[in-house]
Amino acid sequence: MSGMIYQQEATGLSSPRRHVDRMRINGGKALSGRIELKGAKNLVTKAMVASLLGDGVSVLRDVPDISDVEVVSGLLELHGVSITAGTEPGEMILDPSRVELAHMAEINAYAGDSRIPILFCGPLLHRLGEAFIPDLGGCRIGSRPIDFHLDALRNFGARVEKLPEGIRMTAPERLHGAKIELKYPSVGTTEQVLLTAVRAEGTTELKGAAIEPEIMDLIAILQKMGAIISVDTDRVIRIEGVDRLSGYSHRALFDRNEAASWAAAALATEGDIFVGGALQKDMTTFLNVYRKVGGAFDIADDGIRFYHPGHALKSVVIETDVHPGFMTDWQQPLVVALTRAEGISIVHETVYENRFGFTDALVKMGAQIQLYRECLGGHPCRFGQRNFQHSAVISGPTELHGADVVVPDLRGGFSHFVAALAAEGTSNISNVGIISRGYEHFIGKLDQLGADFDVTA
Ligand code: EPU
Repeated sequence: MSGMIYQQEATGLSSPRRHVDRMRINGGKALSGRIELKGAKNLVTKAMVASLLGDGVSVLRDVPDISDVEVVSGLLELHGVSITAGTEPGEMILDPSRVELAHMAEINAYAGDSRIPILFCGPLLHRLGEAFIPDLGGCRIGSRPIDFHLDALRNFGARVEKLPEGIRMTAPERLHGAKIELKYPSVGTTEQVLLTAVRAEGTTELKGAAIEPEIMDLIAILQKMGAIISVDTDRVIRIEGVDRLSGYSHRALFDRNEAASWAAAALATEGDIFVGGALQKDMTTFLNVYRKVGGAFDIADDGIRFYHPGHALKSVVIETDVHPGFMTDWQQPLVVALTRAEGISIVHETVYENRFGFTDALVKMGAQIQLYRECLGGHPCRFGQRNFQHSAVISGPTELHGADVVVPDLRGGFSHFVAALAAEGTSNISNVGIISRGYEHFIGKLDQLGADFDVTA
């Protein structure tokens, strides 16, 4: 992972960029103003992969200018997909008419930058009978195994061969429908099953599926392409395979993780941010918690205004969970706001076993946070009897002060920025490149919101 962030300009898909690795933040200033969201990182990258399944051209709108999109674009181009910008900013046109196998070495050149390559397997097995997955990257927030993915692909009839440079898959015959039950509602594996089952022969039944809004949007895209997918009650998805799919035309669902991040930034810095494009219906769980903490919000047709109420914040108990629970990607920036709330807050992380590494930096900045191996404040989870510090106790209110910190991962890194912006004094943040994986025009947005900062390298 590069330690550089791209300083971006809002000019569309291929905006000019300047590399930034370190930033100095002068904190203690409320963030206020308006920012606009684009499509969700965790939908857009999968929608781009779905284009591989179509006979014709696909058009995706509201594609954010982030490095995860660049990585997936590069991987698709390696496989013969032609990608061009459309007429409106953020519009992407994907033409898969000349899909071909890529060389392992070339795919490997992208290894470590993204976990998306694993989702290429189903579509490539359908089109070419062969696929290759390099060593997978993504944020270091747990062991992040791929066993569910490999089991699912084997169930569809794929042969899986582990090689020193990665995993090679082949489909000696057309893949067939399968009955699959997930031990945990994994987002990525649900997407894997959808992207593979739509063109497999016969019917697939997936039990224990994830049902995040990004998955529902992917299902909407696949339906536009000609797929037959029904989502039943109790996390069961049924897919009737079809022989061919067409391209699609789709505007991506908004990025609710980015919306939650800026909402937390407004609260922690005692600011006022209008997040254009945020939709209440996909954020109800977040909004409930925000209100319990004492945060204020006004819902408009074109977005949500998030702001500090002007009086003390309250402590809460949160348990992260799969949808419709409180998302794991929402807790890190909100923890910064909880350092300012009165009383003891508890956050029990039940999705990833190792997602509190970011709190070390907050403690360095004056926060009082203790980590525990026990499942605190909620239901016992699958990490409870093991050696994972997956519960955090935050005592507040505390005053934060500036410090030198290193960004550890995407959401943890955003929380470091929020803490530095809320803190008295100056902070130096390095390794800020990770932020560009998932936050579009991050530096420009800080500027728009009135943050006081310098780009130091
Ligand atoms: N898991 C397994 N085996 C597998 C797959 C997953 O044990 O084969 C476990 C994971 O280790 C984890 C849990 O299942 O403990 C959930 O993982 P999931 O598969 O749902 O996560 P993912 O698909 O790898 C996506 C998002 C994450 C988000 C999670 C949960 C993308 C690219 N990433 O990851 O987003 O936190 O779902 O909602 O869609 C982020 O945006 O910063 C981010 C990390």
